[in-house]
Amino acid sequence: MITGNTKSGGISKEEYLDLEKKVQNSPWRQSFHIQPVTGLLNDPNGLAWYNGFYHVFYQWFPFGPVHGTKYWYHLRSRDLIYWEDLGIGLAPDQSFDSHGVYSGSSMRKDGLLYLFYTGNHRDDDWVRHSSQCLAVMDQEGRIVKMTSPLIPDPPAGITEHFRDPKVWKGKTGYLMITGAQKLSQTGTALIYQSSDLIQWDYLGELKVSWKTKAYMWECPDYFETEGHGILIMCPQGMEKEESGNSNIYEAGYLIGNPMNEETLTFDGSRYERLDYGFDFYAPQTFLDPLGRRILFGWMGLPEILYPTDRYGWAHCLTIPRELTVVNGRLRQNPVKEMEQMRREAVCETILMEDESYQDVRFYGRHYELLVQIMDQTAGVFEISVRQNKQEQTMIRYSRNDQMICVDRSASGEVFAEDYGFLRKAKLEGGLKEVRIFSDESSLEIFINQGEVSFSLRIFPHRLSEETVFTAREGSVKASIQKWNLRV
Ligand code: FRU
Repeated sequence: MITGNTKSGGISKEEYLDLEKKVQNSPWRQSFHIQPVTGLLNDPNGLAWYNGFYHVFYQWFPFGPVHGTKYWYHLRSRDLIYWEDLGIGLAPDQSFDSHGVYSGSSMRKDGLLYLFYTGNHRDDDWVRHSSQCLAVMDQEGRIVKMTSPLIPDPPAGITEHFRDPKVWKGKTGYLMITGAQKLSQTGTALIYQSSDLIQWDYLGELKVSWKTKAYMWECPDYFETEGHGILIMCPQGMEKEESGNSNIYEAGYLIGNPMNEETLTFDGSRYERLDYGFDFYAPQTFLDPLGRRILFGWMGLPEILYPTDRYGWAHCLTIPRELTVVNGRLRQNPVKEMEQMRREAVCETILMEDESYQDVRFYGRHYELLVQIMDQTAGVFEISVRQNKQEQTMIRYSRNDQMICVDRSASGEVFAEDYGFLRKAKLEGGLKEVRIFSDESSLEIFINQGEVSFSLRIFPHRLSEETVFTAREGSVKASIQKWNLRV
């Protein structure tokens, strides 16, 4: 239980208890996703494997479904499946983070977990001051903040949009990348270097050959895997032609040779979206002890109202996903541990010729569905999930143009109308597999073993549980497996 003071947008004890009650009575609470106890969740932060546990923090505003003064909320898990709730990790209690403990990352050193974050402060004239700050967590889980920022101001030529430090071990010491905006109102990323995680020297801007109209890059994340350098970031203000996306903001990546740490050049030049769904932003990755690069994303977007707002909470994280590189592109697949959540299984091979197939055993709300295409002559193959008479969420593949499309126009309560109801992606090699994780109010859809993913929130009626498979203009033979998931 927490109550705040008015400075941090706090509310009285009674008001907070009411809010908790409202959230508990909300429809659409998730069953296996990380979601806020009250208020608003956004970016995953400080992801780590430390002291025998996976640690996840997230951006949190406790007192309502709005982007107020942010905290870091803390959870840990031994297996990425069962999460222990540790409550507040970092609170906005210093003058330099008085208006928000903003996003950041973590690094293990000498038995401690260093937590880097952005201190967001506004002065009396509401002018923003951003600094990069540090807190340290020990093996007992005690977290202590440093009393002054590590990097108190942005470097020359950079506006106060200077945030989201991600730290990694480079060849010549620790490196930090932050999102930033130049005085010319263009987005960029800055690189700092340190030998002890305390004293940081500014090296300069990351030099990227990719050209964009974006005015700010949020949440950059740089890592190297299988000989590739990968820069993930959230460029805000891209022109529609730059990505073909209808989302208000998006997360994407550049892949190239590992960056040159002396010249700060990175040759990744082709920008790709990370996820093709409606609700995906501010992802962060970390390396786990098995050598896997694991990603969590925020399954939400800023500046959009969601139907749960009226129940006092908003958003959730994605399930953890393992990143790999195949043919020069990133793939995202649920971590193997997700299989531990499988309960009752149903398995069927079906052949549809210009017809639909429906069986109650494939109905549900909390499940994993795996559809493997054995043969398709049909022009169109559709999987409709969370369906009843009025509602459905449609996944449609059309063979002619090899487009896979997700339609949420009839998914339940309508929201984000301004951004459209369809999301599409091209599958160069055709459709081979669809794997869906359905939770109470979200779908995560992985196509062809992570070649493309769609993450989306949906707000259907509780009774919208049907699943219908349809082949049009020909036949589809498919193997279908479904597992109810532990709730
Ligand atoms: C991205 C973001 C970050 C910032 C945080 C504040 O969603 O805007 O840039 O640190 O959220 O909550």
